[in-house]
Amino acid sequence: MSNPTKPTETGPNRTGIASSPIDGKAAVEGAQAGSPPAVFEPPALSAARARVASKAGPVGTIPPPLSVKGMAATAVQMIKGNKPTVFLDLLGERLAFERTGTRLYEALMVKLEAADPHPGGPAREDLERIRDEELEHFGLLKRTMESMGADPTAVTPSADVIAVAGSGLLQAVSDARVTLNEALKAILTAELVDNDSWLMLADVAERLGHDEMAGEFRRALAEEEDHLARVRTWLNAAVEGEAGISARAGDGSGASPPSPSP
Ligand SMILES: [Fe+2]
Ligand SMILES: [Fe+2]
Repeated sequence: MSNPTKPTETGPNRTGIASSPIDGKAAVEGAQAGSPPAVFEPPALSAARARVASKAGPVGTIPPPLSVKGMAATAVQMIKGNKPTVFLDLLGERLAFERTGTRLYEALMVKLEAADPHPGGPAREDLERIRDEELEHFGLLKRTMESMGADPTAVTPSADVIAVAGSGLLQAVSDARVTLNEALKAILTAELVDNDSWLMLADVAERLGHDEMAGEFRRALAEEEDHLARVRTWLNAAVEGEAGISARAGDGSGASPPSPSP
């Protein structure tokens, strides 16, 4: 039995200004007095940020190839006019994200254990299977990088950036107070990114002439599409259950997000 207080219940939330009308008026006046008149950032501050950004060094760089084979492959790509480091950076980025994905599903399994079972939600086996696939994708990227003479333990610049971005998702899913249904929203963000990113990776691999690799990446993409469909189904069922509304007519699977209004 999980904690009986649910996050969607009415409770002592005092973050809104309406919770104290007297102080609210003073807070608005104080904010107005202490803020510049513009709604947006003052131009001088934006200009200062742009100046710093234009002079700042990169987050990181790509390490040189480790092996003779890697050096040769790099040289072949460069002769063709390609920049192989861009592909390596993408591989490093996916590798970092699949590592995060594996951890996200590990954390989601803890949420499931602590949650009250509800219809339409994930079963432990579902989460275990997806976790294993995320880990397999990580392994595929590791082998791919090694086959290209690259070091998969090196953090490429995009790997660094995506790890920082993904750290918010991990924080959300690992917070003890966050429910299974709330955690699924963070997982949805990860799966949407995963889908787009595998598609891009497979496309770039194909256009660089790595046909076999592209085929493997497309298989990973098919699994990611399945993850996304399942997460959407679980999340839709969770929101419907919490809101007390019935499943959408004609959509037994719940796998598609609600259509936007015309
Ligand atoms: Fe993934
Ligand atoms: Fe996934």
